[in-house]
Amino acid sequence: MYTSEKAPAKINLTLDALRKRPDGYHDLEMVMTTVDLYDRIDLTSIDGTSIQLDSSSGLVPQDERNLAYLAARILREKTGVRKGVHIRIEKNIPVAAGLAGGSSDAAATLRGLNRLWKLGLSLEELAQIGAEIGSDVPFCVYSNTAIARGRGEVLEPIPAPPKCWVVLAKPSQGISTADVFGRLRVDQIEQHPSTSHMVDALKKQDLKAVIGSMGNVLEPVTMAMHKEVSRLKEKMHLFGASGVLMSGSGPTVFGIVPKESRAKRIVNSLKGFCEQVYAVRMLGVHRSSLLD
Ligand code: C5P
Repeated sequence: MYTSEKAPAKINLTLDALRKRPDGYHDLEMVMTTVDLYDRIDLTSIDGTSIQLDSSSGLVPQDERNLAYLAARILREKTGVRKGVHIRIEKNIPVAAGLAGGSSDAAATLRGLNRLWKLGLSLEELAQIGAEIGSDVPFCVYSNTAIARGRGEVLEPIPAPPKCWVVLAKPSQGISTADVFGRLRVDQIEQHPSTSHMVDALKKQDLKAVIGSMGNVLEPVTMAMHKEVSRLKEKMHLFGASGVLMSGSGPTVFGIVPKESRAKRIVNSLKGFCEQVYAVRMLGVHRSSLLD
């Protein structure tokens, strides 16, 4: 038996940190949405009880350190299922990039195994299990547009952004989320983005206001570690993107562009400076299954 799931990348339209918690995590307030850059997760039943994993990319771990592997293991523990599975990850989302690629692979594995093993779990139940794997996994289970609070696991769905294009540019070096949060000083944040302004802009489907409300408190932290982030931001502005921001803990920078033709032009202009550049459509709409 076999099934397949798409695992889309996420971007942060806003990312605010409210406080550092006693457990070491930060209470966040983020507006997140998805773009049509996908990994593909193929799940095949195998004899025995082992979990096997391989990937088209040498950059991701092929064992327990891979969040998709962890997802299969935790799902089996929670449900008592003792079945074997082979997980194949076709990797298209840049790794360690601030695009939740690993989290989305884990979420897609949960959705796919729920179907393959006929578990009948709701997306809500899968999201709850996902929270044990990583802070962004619950969001990725739904892969819609949402305000994420708490550690990132408390979700409130909101309207998807208006149709537009997104240019993504990933600097050559990846980054560790824990490293970036470790350097954040919440009491020294100079500018907090306004979640309510962003939500209003989305409700009104006002792309200009969406662009005007974008902000990420981790951006200055990552910029101080990687000069390439500010360089790419400048270039992206210069080449004509309307709103430019770093996603998550970075280092990927994204630019909002209303028209496809301009998005493609910006990609071509950026290619000389950056290897991993993509023009993708904004997605962000809720769907119960990302299968097709
Ligand atoms: O939950 P996840 O494993 O993805 O988080 C990676 C790291 O990012 C955590 O170990 C923590 O250092 C940091 N983090 C945080 N506050 C959050 C989410 C992540 O400090 N809300």
